[in-house]
Amino acid sequence: MEMNYRRLGRSGLKVSELSFGSWVTYGNQLSEGPARECMAAAYEAGVNFFDNAEVYARGQSERIMGAALKALGWRRESYIVSTKFFWGLNDGPNERNTLNRKYLMAAIDGSLSRLQLDHVDLVFCHRPDPDTPIEETVWAMHDIIRAGKAHYWGTSEWSAAEIASAWQIAERAHLAKPVMEQPQYNLFHRQRVEVEYARLYDDLGLGLTTWSPLASGLLTGKYNSGVPAGSRATLKGYEWLAERIVEPAKIAKVRQLLPIARDLDCTPAQLSLAWCVKNPHVSTVITGASRPEQVVENMKALDVAPKLTPEIMARIDTIFALTGATEE
Ligand SMILES: NC(=O)c1ccc[n+]([C@@H]2O[C@H](COP(=O)([O-])OP(=O)(O)OC[C@H]3O[C@@H](n4cnc5c(N)ncnc54)[C@H](OP(=O)(O)O)[C@@H]3O)[C@@H](O)[C@H]2O)c1
Repeated sequence: MEMNYRRLGRSGLKVSELSFGSWVTYGNQLSEGPARECMAAAYEAGVNFFDNAEVYARGQSERIMGAALKALGWRRESYIVSTKFFWGLNDGPNERNTLNRKYLMAAIDGSLSRLQLDHVDLVFCHRPDPDTPIEETVWAMHDIIRAGKAHYWGTSEWSAAEIASAWQIAERAHLAKPVMEQPQYNLFHRQRVEVEYARLYDDLGLGLTTWSPLASGLLTGKYNSGVPAGSRATLKGYEWLAERIVEPAKIAKVRQLLPIARDLDCTPAQLSLAWCVKNPHVSTVITGASRPEQVVENMKALDVAPKLTPEIMARIDTIFALTGATEE
């Protein structure tokens, strides 16, 4: 198993093809000990990027990752950490659902303190904010970078038009440009990455750090005969997500993936991750796991990616069409 490193878009930063994130798991399912074991298993496999966000477990995810990094004692230059801002941790009019300057300049200091770091590598605008001019957000991200508190900035789930607008504002004013976007990308959710953003890769040099490659675990096949105890679909507070996971039409498609995985001598999880890695516009596929064993299984997707011939890709396409009913 060999980890490859890809440039994050047009930037010079190299990210591992598979990376590791803490959404849902850190703070809800994992305390610091097991969280650290998952990161260690990922790092051991060559992962150099660990994804986080202010809002995950309301700051607790950053605290856990910060403590884990401290205990692991890796050289700071050997790994990349991110955070993301938008929803906020407080209820004031300038503290939630915003990308205004006042919120962003305070948010970065809060994240760095919880992570026990003096800078993050990547900072994302977690969602677009229609109430703040994009120009104000671009200036704030530029100033965060100039202050040495982050190295690169990007967006998450912004429209192609919003990303292009931010990039052009930065270009005209000689500010730090958005380098990467973080969209959902998996066999059920292809439209944005494969169609909407198509022009941005060459025109702007956009890189992608993609999320939920297993559609929250659905693509592992673990929900094919009901909801297993302890799985994400059983978690309190995530009922909205469980509804999306246990859809019979989706499960019927996952069942059709099993023979392809069998032919390639891999698990459905490995096949689904390898399919994401296969897309050259994806800089890194952010994986998630509630146990170190899952990390170990998932990292072996790197061995499966070279087996995805045009014939195999065509078989997968007949099940998970690019457009139509499979899109959420
Ligand atoms: N920017 C955004 O808006 C955004 C949104 C969502 C996520 N993200 C990022 O993307 C990362 C990955 O997203 P995700 O956690 O949704 O990824 P995912 O790969 O779709 O789901 C991961 C979950 O699936 C289950 N799983 C993983 N591997 C498995 C295996 N081999 N066998 C059985 N079950 C397995 C585990 O849940 P259980 O064991 O609990 O069932 C695990 O926590 C997040 O941590 C976060 O960093 C970003």
